[in-house]
Amino acid sequence: MKLAIGNDHTALELKKEVMAHLEEKGYELIDYGTYTSDRCDYPVYGEKVARAVVSGEADLGILICGTGVGISLAANKVHGIRAVVCSEPYSAALARRHNNANIVAFGARVVGPELAKMIVDSFLDAEFEGGRHAERVNMIMDIEKRG
Ligand code: RB5
Repeated sequence: MKLAIGNDHTALELKKEVMAHLEEKGYELIDYGTYTSDRCDYPVYGEKVARAVVSGEADLGILICGTGVGISLAANKVHGIRAVVCSEPYSAALARRHNNANIVAFGARVVGPELAKMIVDSFLDAEFEGGRHAERVNMIMDIEKRG
């Protein structure tokens, strides 16, 4: 599975730890930056990862800023994206199973490295269940189509 990952300056170290963990597990990662600790603007990286996911360049995305909030809000402006902020693994798994989320976001100022790894593992190990959940996800996407 190919994953797109992106972050702002608050999350550089956490991203490196998460990437090492996922590479060890055999995932292919595309790192959209930021690559330094210089202050930057999270919407840039939220959009880059979102576009990689909707284009099919990556299967799923991971976004990290201070809280996960701003960067996921930016990603959700790209049509086709369902980005969720998760600070614990249970919501991350359910976001895949019920909501067919395609990006998980979290905050470097909120979760530590071990919890972050549990969140991404839960997200990536879970599968969308379809059925009644698909109907509800379609309702969400219909809102997007109505503009
Ligand atoms: C940057 O200071 C901070 O605002 C950003 O990382 C994020 O938490 C925004 O939602």
